[in-house]
Amino acid sequence: MARELFEAARDAMARCHAPYSKFPVGAAIRADDGAIYAGANIEVIAFPEGWCAETTAIGHMVMAGGKRIREVAVIAEKLDLCTPCGGCRQRLAEFSDADTLVHLCDSNGVQKSLRMDELLPFGFTTEVIG
Ligand code: THU
Repeated sequence: MARELFEAARDAMARCHAPYSKFPVGAAIRADDGAIYAGANIEVIAFPEGWCAETTAIGHMVMAGGKRIREVAVIAEKLDLCTPCGGCRQRLAEFSDADTLVHLCDSNGVQKSLRMDELLPFGFTTEVIG
């Protein structure tokens, strides 16, 4: 199961648009509908306007009707383990549960798996909004 997610993240990474950082990243989500949604980082020349692989994958999930993240895999070509950035932790948490696993991968497969609440302890949440 996690192997399939790793392969989707690795294949997505090959489709990144990262001409500025030259730092390809791929992510893949298994959603509550059983489907896998993958994405890569996409950069623009106005540097802050680019976005992360995890964000692309979340966008694909939401647009296809997926509601919840069951499992995530992340891979970066140039890092042994690429942990999602702070903003992506918050975005992933929005659609995850505390025990949702985030698999950190290298080119051989999953190397480490963290729970969402390990990756983002004390993340922002409130019942006052929404
Ligand atoms: N990046 C991701 O896609 N995901 C992360 O979790 C960390 C960083 C991307 C953003 C940018 O395109 C490149 O990696 C260098 O920061």
